[in-house]
Parts: sequence; structure tokens; C-alpha cells
Amino acid sequence: MFKQTPPMGWNSWNTFEYNINDKLIRETADAMVSTGLRDAGYEYLVIDDCWSMPTRGADGRLRPDPEKFPEGIKPVADYVHSKGLKFGMYSCAGPVTCAHFPGSFDNEFLDAETFASWGVDFLKYDYCLHSQLTEGKVLYRRMGAALENCGRDILFSACTWGADNTWEWIKETSASMWRSTNDIHDNWESIKEIIRQQIPLFPYHGQGCFNDMDMLVVGIHGESRFIGDGMNETQYKTHFSAWSMFGSPLMIGCDIRNMSDTTKKILMNRDLIAINQDPACRQVHLLKKDFRLDVDVFVRQLSGGEFVIGIFNLTDRDNRASFTLDQLGLNPSLHKTLRMREIWTGEEMTVQNSYVLRQIKNCDCEVWRCKIVDA
Ligand code: GLA
Repeated sequence: MFKQTPPMGWNSWNTFEYNINDKLIRETADAMVSTGLRDAGYEYLVIDDCWSMPTRGADGRLRPDPEKFPEGIKPVADYVHSKGLKFGMYSCAGPVTCAHFPGSFDNEFLDAETFASWGVDFLKYDYCLHSQLTEGKVLYRRMGAALENCGRDILFSACTWGADNTWEWIKETSASMWRSTNDIHDNWESIKEIIRQQIPLFPYHGQGCFNDMDMLVVGIHGESRFIGDGMNETQYKTHFSAWSMFGSPLMIGCDIRNMSDTTKKILMNRDLIAINQDPACRQVHLLKKDFRLDVDVFVRQLSGGEFVIGIFNLTDRDNRASFTLDQLGLNPSLHKTLRMREIWTGEEMTVQNSYVLRQIKNCDCEVWRCKIVDA
């Protein structure tokens, strides 16, 4: 399936791990609607690992754990669809998944057909314990072909953590997104590391196949028992700003049945979602840094002539960032002015023939939407 803009939705793993069931998924579907997340653009509701029985059935098919999903998967998918949402599931390119449930190796076509019969619209496909005899790219081509031939539009989400130079071959496989990093953690070190890892990978991102920076941890606040102690609101804001600006898929990982107002405000920032979903899906770049300063400045062109400047203070102290109009290609001889609006605060600035100097608090960011006008 070809997806024009980065997928958005919710995934069970970051908060619930093994503790998934029919009730949770239905309540989450309800919450996607009642909180306004669905209307803000979050459309896929994805069940991650640990949904199945430890072995296949006598017919060779994957089967859901009856304690977690007593009515099977199809009624859950139907419920999700009845809320105007799309439904996703998880499998693995290895014979078993990362949590040691059956994977799809050598059953790719059968499993794609099973997922289609349940009404699945999205498949996250992991890379754990895969065969060393068959190259990863072949395993993903196989599942890609199986999904393309299963009779249903199923978005293929490759979860290879950037292993085996995924970026070189992932577009061969019909995947719409590929995990460009190891698993995210609910802490600031992880956010900084993932942002920095993306810089050399920017050229591989683009319409139809998006670099996936992993599921969001916004709003988890350390409540998941295994992925970290949580972050403060500023760090969650910076995390969401970077994922949005870089065009990553936005898959929420917190318990959306109990979100704080701040979590909602971050996840439903319409200006950032609009940037994330900009139809041109253009490449981001890092502006040349001022050697005395330590704050990263990223730029991304949007469709229609506007662009975004994201200033990310990934250091642990308050710091300054600067850039010049020259660096953006706006030499004084062109007689152009930059009109800028900061997305979180609404602050406005007009810049002409000069440089911009900003003081940014530690772990904080500014995201400016910019327009070029005549001087
Ligand atoms: C891997 C993936 C995670 C999650 C778990 C499930 O670690 O990268 O996103 O799907 O497996 O076991």
C-alpha cells in the first residue's frame, strides 16, 4: 500500500507490553474518538507483540490468545472500524517474535491472508531472531509481496531498527515506513540519541516510505515498567516537535484513556501535525552550526513556499542558537524579509538583513513557521 504522508495512530507496546486484551483495545478506540485524537489525524490503532497463542493452530494459522481476545480478532477489528479508525497488528520476520510468540517466517502468504480475513489495515513487522540464511531484505520483500497480494490494503511497517543498512533496500519491499533506530526509551538520553541518529538518514526519508523514529513516549511519565523513568513536559514537547518536524510516523504510546491536559495539548498541536503531514514530505537539513554555540537548527521546506525552522537545545544547559538569513539562501541582495511565527508560543518576528539569535532553555525547542515576503 502506498501512503502519501506519515502514518499516525496508537500502538499498545510502550505502555502495555503483554497486558493487552479485547477490553483495552475497545476502550482505546473509544478514547481515540472522545479525546479528539481521531479528528486530529490519528487513525491507526495497532496491537503489538503478545497477542497470540504460543503455537500455531492445527491448520498452521496464527491464533489469538483466547484469554486476551475471547471473541477472536475480527470482532475487535470490526469495533475499531465502527469508530472510523483503522486496525493494525504485529508479526515478525523471524520464526518467533521478539517476545517469543510465533513469527511469520516461511508463512508469509498464509499470515497475510489471515490478517486480511480479520480486517487488518496495518502490519508492523519486526526483525527479531530472523534466519541468518536468508538476507533481511529478502524476508521483507517476501512479506511485502504477500501483503500486496492478500486482497486487502494493508500498510507495511518495517521494524528493522535500521539494521543491515535498511535504508539501502527498504523501498524495494513496499514498506511505507521503516524503523530507523533501536527501541525508544522514556528518557531524555534516548530522545537526544534518536534525533542525532536521524541526521545522516534524512536523505532516505520521503513520500511513500518514511523514516520511523519509533513510537512516541509523550505522556507515559515512567508508567511503563520497562522503558524508562519518564520526562518532564518540556522534554515531551521537544520530543514531539522533533518527530513532527522530521516527518516521522506519529504513533502514540501512552494510555490515552487517562491523558493529562498537557499531554493532549502536545499530541494535538495542530500546527505541528500540519507540518508532519505536509504533502510534499521534503527532506530536513541541519543548518551549518555556529562553532561557538551548541544548539541544533534544522530547516524543512513545506509545500507552497513556507518553511519551518526548528531550534532544538539537546544540551543540558540553557544555550544560545543563531543563524543568518544567508544560511537560508536569503542574501541581502535579494531584498527579502522573513516573517516567522513560533508554534508553541505564538510569538512573531520579522527578520531582514540580519541574523537571528535565540536563547533556548535546556531540553527546550522553538519551532518557527516562516514565510518569505518582500522587504
Ligand atoms: C521490538 C520492537 C518493539 C516492540 C517489541 C515487541 O523490540 O522494536 O517496538 O514491537 O519488539 O516485542
